[in-house]
Amino acid sequence: MLSNISNFERNAISHVLRGVYQIKTPTISGTQRNVFFVKTSEGDFVAKFGCRDIVFKNCFVAHLASRHGIFVPDISMAEYKGQWIEIYPMFPEKTLFEHIREGMSEKTVRLAFENMLTQFVRMGSIQVPKNQQENKSLHIHNSTYEHTKNTNGTAMAMTLRPIVYMLNRGRARNIGLYHSDMTTKNVIVNEKGSIVSIIDLDSMAICNRDYAFGAMADKWCELGFNLHELYDKYEYLADQPINRMRINSMLRTIHLGKYLMFKANKHRQK
Ligand SMILES: Nc1ncnc2c1ncn2[C@@H]1O[C@H](COP(=O)(O)OP(=O)(O)O)[C@@H](O)[C@H]1O
Ligand SMILES: [Mg+2]
Repeated sequence: MLSNISNFERNAISHVLRGVYQIKTPTISGTQRNVFFVKTSEGDFVAKFGCRDIVFKNCFVAHLASRHGIFVPDISMAEYKGQWIEIYPMFPEKTLFEHIREGMSEKTVRLAFENMLTQFVRMGSIQVPKNQQENKSLHIHNSTYEHTKNTNGTAMAMTLRPIVYMLNRGRARNIGLYHSDMTTKNVIVNEKGSIVSIIDLDSMAICNRDYAFGAMADKWCELGFNLHELYDKYEYLADQPINRMRINSMLRTIHLGKYLMFKANKHRQK
């Protein structure tokens, strides 16, 4: 059987983890194809390859977020021949995306979103230490650049960076350390809809709250729910208003962005 795991990746994983006996790629792959599920004699782990700055950034934000009661993986980092890798425990539960596909009830899905909102509200209280605020990879336009470069190439990354920068300008009180890709694929929940962990911290960066809210709102709409319900719930939990007009226009930008990415990918596949 042909394996989609390179020898380098195999060697790297076996080097940084003890007692490795199985390496697999996720069945529902993410956007970057750099995530591996690893079984070892000491437990099951996720190994996620990335560039040095992003791996350091993810490790830093994971520790900061968990101190604020946000459920994120306990990330450690490793290096093999210049390649950086995030290592964290594998969760036995499924993503919300998988639960929905397997028929999770509407009531439980709504509850899961409410729990995501509670986590999102907590993100609003994170203070990034002053000495870290200049760290480039902590800013959303730069982390998006890195992510897009890996998925859609440098040209698209260069196009997107100034757009993301502009979308994230705004009042200082609305800027914080938010996960800007809280989609159903990036949230692991149990069968009752409680959050086990928010994963994929590539998208956790200093950004505008309304921008980050957009990803969640987008998925909520895709499920056929009314957006105003989500806004109302957030405002109740956070006890502060959200800029609905701005998020609605962000959603239009997200849709345009997705369309352009789709076109670019199709063009590249030709
Ligand atoms: N700790 C984990 N436990 C269980 N599943 C995970 C874990 N980390 C990642 N996954 C699965 O792998 C997929 C891809 O991982 P993710 O970190 O989101 O990478 P990408 O940047 O490619 O989206 C997720 O959507 C999820 O299904
Ligand atoms: Mg993901």
